[in-house]
Amino acid sequence: MVIPLAIEKSAGICTMEISRREWLRSTGVWAGGATLAANAANVANAANAANAATPAAAGGLVASESGVLADVLDYARAAPGHMSKMGWEYISGGAADELSLRWNRESYDRLRLRPRVLVDVSQLDTRVTLFGREHACPILLAPTAYHKLSYAEGEIATVRGAAAAGVTMVVSTSATVSLEEVAQATTKPLWFQLYVQPDREFTRALIRRAETAGYQALVVTVDSPVLGARYRETRSGFTLPPGMERANLRGLKTATGGHRATENTIYSALLDPRLTWKEIAWIRSLTNLPLLLKGILDGEDAVRAVEVGAAGVIVSNHGGRNLDTLPATVDALPEVVSKVAGRVPVLVDGGIRRGTDVLKAIALGATATLIGRAYLYGLAVGGAEGVARVVNILRREFEMAMALTGRSSIKAIDASVIWK
Ligand code: FNR
Ligand code: LAC
Repeated sequence: MVIPLAIEKSAGICTMEISRREWLRSTGVWAGGATLAANAANVANAANAANAATPAAAGGLVASESGVLADVLDYARAAPGHMSKMGWEYISGGAADELSLRWNRESYDRLRLRPRVLVDVSQLDTRVTLFGREHACPILLAPTAYHKLSYAEGEIATVRGAAAAGVTMVVSTSATVSLEEVAQATTKPLWFQLYVQPDREFTRALIRRAETAGYQALVVTVDSPVLGARYRETRSGFTLPPGMERANLRGLKTATGGHRATENTIYSALLDPRLTWKEIAWIRSLTNLPLLLKGILDGEDAVRAVEVGAAGVIVSNHGGRNLDTLPATVDALPEVVSKVAGRVPVLVDGGIRRGTDVLKAIALGATATLIGRAYLYGLAVGGAEGVARVVNILRREFEMAMALTGRSSIKAIDASVIWK
């Protein structure tokens, strides 16, 4: 059965169809087999995670009391009730003491805004152009692994949500649905994120597959020669459950199981610790797709990325999941923007939970932003509808922030919007 659902009336464009199960799930009536058992401890954890992420969010009306999920933090609080404890620890956790995870948020919270009044904001232009294609707003879905941990249909639900909200999804190498199946589930443009595999021929084939399936940009993640010390994963015994696979890696031994080799080595068979600038030049020679390097924090690295032919860089600390005590990405952004000096677009991710965060990132020189956990919370709670809802919430908050600071276009959002 298919129930037509207007996701957000004010959005006008966001009408989509979802299955009855998705609908029940999104309303909280159906939480799905095993995940219904998601325990009270899980929900308590979520409250902590949401509050740690934004201390100011503690208190007030919480989602579970009213049943209304109004903002991204409500989704963060509701999400663990819809998934296994292991899945929740995996998506919400960070590295070691989770300081970078927290700083990603705190740095946005610390920035204050300077409003200008009496500006005509009756029309807001939120469009940005990246590599010749227009995006309706400067928000993309960051690549994240294993969507089936959050929702049974996994990346298929995510891509439908992305399409409904009109944003571009960056599909992860570690997706639980193959890149071809994700592409078949949408008519909208997609980007592909590449984890260079130790098997170079496999890597070459993976790039070719992404091109053949019509992906429009290649995002190479360069901040992960190894994974970080993720103790929440260790404590919850993280591994891919039976029946879930890294669908893009079919044919490799690493298609199933955990993502760490053993306790005795820091290396993962899924990542290539030998990756250097030489391989980036090699990848550049393999494809004409715009190439972005994701995970750059240092200005000199950003310059080098441009020199090897990157069409864009993504300032990211991997959502605080790898090296703890890296700076917040919004603090690293200005140096990268200044060194890149307008030669290529600079994108940023990490800690974005508010439309004002998007405004601040753009004010500091980002061309666009990516969200990670925010949409995973939406996915867990309501599949495609949840993803679209989270994006729409952020989009509306961003538009309100533009209107209330007197900036009617992206171009008008410059450094003067930050209160010094
Ligand atoms: C990630 N991230 C990530 N990055 C990447 O290049 N490939 C991947 O497969 C993944 N997988 C992944 C899984 C999960 C559960 C998370 C939370 C993150 C990092 C991601 O692209 C992005 O950098 C961060 O998620 C941004 O931070 P926020 O928005 O989650 O705070
Ligand atoms: C993660 C990897 C898979 O952050 O990128 O979990």
